[in-house]
Amino acid sequence: MENKQIQQLIKAATEQLAYSYAPYSRFCVGAALLAKNGMLFTGCNIENAAYTPSNCAERTAFFKAVSEGVKEFSAICVVGGKDGELTEYTPPCGVCRQVMMEFCDPEEFEIILAVDTEQYRIFRLKELLPLGFGPDNL
Ligand code: THU
Repeated sequence: MENKQIQQLIKAATEQLAYSYAPYSRFCVGAALLAKNGMLFTGCNIENAAYTPSNCAERTAFFKAVSEGVKEFSAICVVGGKDGELTEYTPPCGVCRQVMMEFCDPEEFEIILAVDTEQYRIFRLKELLPLGFGPDNL
């Protein structure tokens, strides 16, 4: 992936922190999902007073895309931190990794974990979800 595109994804994910609705954990997360057709879908975490209906930033981005007919993706960037302060990487939770497994090629799909535009790491889905169960297993 080109450096320019990585920077663009990090910036878009970071902008999402402003929309994060996290009054319970105060842990704000932003995501930017790049579709294979070049479209960018953003997302933030959305919490709920009943706790379990909360949605992660990554799934917000995926579900926005799929609900608009886009189902092929090349990369996602995730940023997060307490009160929106970015100090460490925020790896996707297990549920979000499983949602990625549904729509992405685990050997190809890239997950960019970032603190800022200079501090980031890129993983393939396969690294974060080894031996994942997906549509090919059925
Ligand atoms: N969260 C995300 O949105 N994405 C992640 O990758 C990790 C966790 C959210 C869920 C919850 O709103 C808050 O962060 C604390 O767990």
